[in-house]
Amino acid sequence: MTAVRTDENPSAPAPENRAPLLEISGLTVSYGRRATALRRAGSTRVLSGVDLTVRAGEILGIIGETGSGKTTLARATVGLVRPDAGEIGFEGRDVTRLSRRDLRGFRRTGRVQYMFQDPLRSQDPELTVRQVVAEPLASVGAATRQERARRADEALTLVGLDAGALGPRTPAQLSGGQRQRVSLARAIVTRPRLLLSDEPVSALDASNRNLVLSLLDRLRRELDLAVVVISHDLSSLAGIADRVAVLYRGRLVEQGPISEVLEHPRHPYTALLTASAPSVRREHRLLPAQLRPDPVLAAGRTPWPDDEGCVFAPRCRFAGPACREEPAAVPVPVPIPVPASGTAAPTPVETAARTAPETAARATARPTATRLPSPAGGPDPSRPHHTVACHHAATWRGGLG
Ligand SMILES: Nc1ncnc2c1ncn2[C@@H]1O[C@H](COP(=O)(O)OP(=O)(O)O)[C@@H](O)[C@H]1O
Ligand code: SF4
Ligand SMILES: [Mg+2]
Repeated sequence: MTAVRTDENPSAPAPENRAPLLEISGLTVSYGRRATALRRAGSTRVLSGVDLTVRAGEILGIIGETGSGKTTLARATVGLVRPDAGEIGFEGRDVTRLSRRDLRGFRRTGRVQYMFQDPLRSQDPELTVRQVVAEPLASVGAATRQERARRADEALTLVGLDAGALGPRTPAQLSGGQRQRVSLARAIVTRPRLLLSDEPVSALDASNRNLVLSLLDRLRRELDLAVVVISHDLSSLAGIADRVAVLYRGRLVEQGPISEVLEHPRHPYTALLTASAPSVRREHRLLPAQLRPDPVLAAGRTPWPDDEGCVFAPRCRFAGPACREEPAAVPVPVPIPVPASGTAAPTPVETAARTAPETAARATARPTATRLPSPAGGPDPSRPHHTVACHHAATWRGGLG
């Protein structure tokens, strides 16, 4: 059995040192007529080439504005949406290659659970709370009704609800915060390895919000659960996520450890998000106005054509000719300690940026991740721990007013 890292067991491996549980690569999803390699007409692409890794016991936050593709990413991961391209590896198996029958079988294992954005959607108003929570157990083949009721009560207790008092009620007789916790109990009743929680706190008041977030944090430790928390609000992720992935119009523009991403955002869109979130600490106190296109300059600029180059270019203050080419996600150079006697050697990205800023990121568009310093026993070096998709990631701060 895997050693679970808890406050009582701090010697167990930290999440970032464990094997990936979920590995998504090149995930592309369209709605409408099914797209092929040759045809996109009639379909709308909502995810493009998304790469993502989630490890056991970690919380990954996915942030992005409404319509950026967060829900689609979660639905594709549980097999509710068929992708056009890419792989979704869960425990070593590619979910995208499963037949319909095998996909149903995979969902019935209950090892991956998806918590819908709206708790009422997953809670049948005709059922009691106990029945709502026990429902997923029927499909995983949990024995008797009594056994299912016992496990439902156990799950309700784990999320801090009084199973005896609330179990016989209907969802409509609960408060919004209690309903969200019932959703959580229902999601963990099958003891999943991975939980995808879609906007779990967006409809809650501040106290219920904190309660649900700290519950997620406690459950991932107690159940050794990997949790993906989807949110359009960066500040709700700040307290609990280990890593964060930033989606913008279906592209993953930056991902990395949450403290690094919040304090040193490398993508202009992430910087705008952190600057606009009042409760998030910001590096050098950047202001949204410093990051938005200058209205005077923007008025004289030819409008950026849709679907050309960088997806953020129409809103980016730092867009230049290089941005007409879509930037690839490249590893962010880890800050290297400066020796007392001099300065550290520049990283490949920095060197390229100094010599030819416009082509810096392209020059390193597909670098081998072995360039990244990796502490012994640290994260898998074949997966860079912090990536950014911006041609000017190393230089745009120099253009701040
Ligand atoms: N079933 C669907 N059919 C067609 N378009 C959809 C469907 N679901 C979502 N979309 C579109 O896909 C885009 C991404 O949606 P979604 O994944 O729900 O984003 P988010 O969760 O970030 O708000 C949006 O433009 C949305 O209108
Ligand atoms: S690639 Fe260019 S347009 Fe896109 S975020 Fe970077 S600077 Fe802005
Ligand atoms: Mg959504």
